[in-house]
Amino acid sequence: MQFVSKKAQIDKLSTPCLILPVFSKGEQAEITTSFDNAHDQQISLVLKQGDATGKAGNTLLLQMPAGSKTKRVLLVGFGEHGKTSTEDFCKAVSASVNALKSLPIKETISALLFVDVADKDNEWKTRQIVLKSREALYQYTETLTTSAPDKNILKECQLLISDSCSEKDINTAATTATSIANGIDSTRKLADLPGNVCTPTYLANTAKALGKEHKSLKVTILDEAEMEKLGMGSLLSVSRGSREPAKLITMEHNGGAKSQKPIVIVGKGLTFDAGGISIKPSSGMDEMKYDMCGGASVFGVMQMCAELNLPINVVGVVPSSENLPDGDANKPGDIVTSMAGLTIEILNTDAEGRLILCDALTYSAKFNPDVVIDIATLTGACVVALGKHATGLLGNNDELANELLGAGIKAGDKAWQLPLWDEYRPQLKSNFADLANIGGPTGGTITAACFLSRFTEDYKWAHLDIAGTAWKSGAEKGATGRPVHMLSQFILDRC
Ligand code: BES
Ligand code: MN
Ligand code: ZN
Repeated sequence: MQFVSKKAQIDKLSTPCLILPVFSKGEQAEITTSFDNAHDQQISLVLKQGDATGKAGNTLLLQMPAGSKTKRVLLVGFGEHGKTSTEDFCKAVSASVNALKSLPIKETISALLFVDVADKDNEWKTRQIVLKSREALYQYTETLTTSAPDKNILKECQLLISDSCSEKDINTAATTATSIANGIDSTRKLADLPGNVCTPTYLANTAKALGKEHKSLKVTILDEAEMEKLGMGSLLSVSRGSREPAKLITMEHNGGAKSQKPIVIVGKGLTFDAGGISIKPSSGMDEMKYDMCGGASVFGVMQMCAELNLPINVVGVVPSSENLPDGDANKPGDIVTSMAGLTIEILNTDAEGRLILCDALTYSAKFNPDVVIDIATLTGACVVALGKHATGLLGNNDELANELLGAGIKAGDKAWQLPLWDEYRPQLKSNFADLANIGGPTGGTITAACFLSRFTEDYKWAHLDIAGTAWKSGAEKGATGRPVHMLSQFILDRC
């Protein structure tokens, strides 16, 4: 779907559908009133009758009389006039697309930029209109045949702006948001694919295809023999229990000066996590196909950087493997040697994410990074601590952590920081190795990050635990594409 800005008189619009804001209390928006005055007070009438409530997210579709150039009007509620919150705004945008997406409407004209949101400018509103619309239009179709949903036909949305507003600024914001949305869609699609399709080899091939599509991307795939040479004993120990060979995928976007140190993002690409010998309970285990969401978000972000040709250097690293029980799988008590040389006692084979990440993090130092950010569905404890709304954030540099927190707030893709104090470190003590891969029943998200921190001492590092935010369960089961927006904002802020 395309979004472009438009300056026009509200009462003279030729469109299959005009989207107008309404409020539950206080005056109506000027633009809505103008339209109302030119159309026999139709809108006042339905508001008075109570058919449209104006509550945030409430929608009502009106058919205009025969002969009217504006065929339909969709009224969308934004709550009380002057009190629309960022959440209300996003909710209302989503509702407007949901109300239209199954109707035979190809084009719309939207007046939603005329809604004021405290502290938010038109750029932010445009971004959210594009992203929330695209989110509502996303459809997984890959493995559906008879029950495949109808294809969306909504193709274009013209965003009405006032005379004082710059068309160029709105179009730039829409272009940026479209590339972020494309990244989010790719992330969701990869994540929603089943484990028997989306294997480490599939991810490697996807990276190669992305590299072919974008000139700025240099893609390198390391196979198991090459990882062996580098001494990645920890990563390879996880993959040994699987028939699918592990891959270490690197995507380099070189948009900045040669001398500029890159941002390195490292995503856990565990394409199915059965737990290994420490096998998981069978109920809900299907959702462990989502254990590659960190890796999938790296794909989404790299695609965004390449599409927008961002003037910055970003490297994406995705260690990818399965974690299955097998005669050759890791056993509790096994000790492996990581690329960094540290020995690890594997007390629980289900704590495999950190085992593949630690070697990828050691490997990342070779890019001489400015900062390294890893993204992983790492701990169930993070879902217990923060629920499904906030991504867990930990790290060794508060400036970097604050930058990410800020980007998350701006994007509406928020994180919450947890402490990474030395007090937690003894929980990883092992009698037989340099460290254990689990830290006992308490503070699971923190001890997991503590484990990773032993491999990130040479650079500024942040860790995003997306176990609660990367996908939804239940009737709406599916990937969310988080935290692609947060990371995109973080990168854009540095451009
Ligand atoms: N992929 C899981 C984490 C996870 C669990 C994500 C549930 C989303 C929902 C990870 O590999 C794992 O199994 N972690 C263990 C660690 C434990 C053994 C220390 C966990 O969280 O139970
Ligand atoms: Mn696991
Ligand atoms: Zn896992």
